[in-house]
Amino acid sequence: TYIITQPCVDVKDLACVEECPVDCIYEGNRMLYIQPDECVDCGACEPVCPVEAIYYEDDVPADQKVFYDVNVNFFDSIGSPGGAARQGPIDADHPYVVDLPPQGE
Ligand code: F3S
Ligand code: F3S
Repeated sequence: TYIITQPCVDVKDLACVEECPVDCIYEGNRMLYIQPDECVDCGACEPVCPVEAIYYEDDVPADQKVFYDVNVNFFDSIGSPGGAARQGPIDADHPYVVDLPPQGE
């Protein structure tokens, strides 16, 4: 799967959502999350993120590895909704993200 990392937090550019052919990028309160069972690893989202927040799981920078669990575990209670547009924004974040201080300047 692909993973969204910390640069997305409090930015949420949303360019990635338009690119995903399977609509598996879900909006939380402070960042977006890729549903790991729905992502088909097409990679279309990765180059369009203006803050370079998206990585293939094996390429996540060392200091961002926690975001693998952040992305995957975000869906523990949500499951596989089968489409982010139909799901709509989710009024939640992974606890790690909830606890992050405000990002950006
Ligand atoms: Fe979609 Fe990106 Fe996966 S475009 S299918 S979330 S690699
Ligand atoms: Fe976030 Fe980048 Fe998508 S900032 S919403 S991962 S385009």
